[in-house]
Amino acid sequence: PEQKLRVKAQIKQKLKEQDAVLVAHYYVERDLQELAEETGGYVSDSLDMARFGNEHPAKTLIVAGVRFMGETAKILNPEKRVLMPTLEAECSLDLECPAEQFIAFCDEHPDRTVVVYSNTSAEVKARADYVVTSSIAVDLVTWLDEQGKKILWAPDKHLGRYIQRLTGADMLLWQAACVVHDEFKFRSLGEMLDKYPDAGVLVHPESPEDIIRLADAVGSTSQLIKAAQTLPHQRFIVATDSGIFYKMQQAAPDKTFIAAPTMGEGATCKSCAHCPWMAMNGLHNLLSVLETGGNEIFVEESVRVKALRSTQRMLDFAK
Ligand code: 13P
Ligand code: SF4
Repeated sequence: PEQKLRVKAQIKQKLKEQDAVLVAHYYVERDLQELAEETGGYVSDSLDMARFGNEHPAKTLIVAGVRFMGETAKILNPEKRVLMPTLEAECSLDLECPAEQFIAFCDEHPDRTVVVYSNTSAEVKARADYVVTSSIAVDLVTWLDEQGKKILWAPDKHLGRYIQRLTGADMLLWQAACVVHDEFKFRSLGEMLDKYPDAGVLVHPESPEDIIRLADAVGSTSQLIKAAQTLPHQRFIVATDSGIFYKMQQAAPDKTFIAAPTMGEGATCKSCAHCPWMAMNGLHNLLSVLETGGNEIFVEESVRVKALRSTQRMLDFAK
């Protein structure tokens, strides 16, 4: 613990010296979330991370999360230096949607408006008409559907299916999934609900459809934290990455949160739903990046300019 305190103090010092601000996702380890809050940075969902980075005057953004979050920050803020504790932190949705194949797929369907989840590479965003996160995806597709648009959606099939079911829009879906949320199991969740019949169920829409159908609230990480505060339940089963418990418990201190099972029957593992790439962010690689200036995010300018159009539309729509 003493060494941890020392590292935290060094990080705080360096952030100040370098006019840098730390923007973290709810899924990264608690120490990083605390540091972001203690140093005037921010912890949030992917949409609000992008917004915050865009509005903050700091010259350097340190993004603790996965690569697409760093790239989104750079797409929006080419004049800022964007660093990440690790450049290895991928996302299965991004990996399962290679730009070349995606572009070919779009070219086969020129009549469709292309809407992509922000969990994608800059090249994929550059081919898209709109970027969304889970917090605005339903609203944006509803708006496009009202204009009679046919949609090509990528990459998350579960989120796509969920939006399609709610909006009735004509959507052609790319077939990728999040390796973390795809693991939630309907039978085990049902068993858990038998055990805690009073519990509310909070579900991130990257989860399979049968899990979503059991939910009392479906939404982005920020929206799930809000639901934990506002729904009347005293106890919740939470189907998303376990990193969220830190902030969720803080937001609703009198309530009880139970991790939804991921490992088949009856599993109650508290930490099994955890993104392996988010877990690569830590105090030590954060400090090292501040010392060396390494792990900078670059996006090729011709790609960035195109990706900015669709990404800026996300921010404008979210206003
Ligand atoms: P949020 O936009 O809800 O934070 O989701 C990002 C993500 O990667 C969830 O797995
Ligand atoms: Fe990607 Fe899933 Fe990890 Fe989120 S939890 S970053 S969607 S792999």
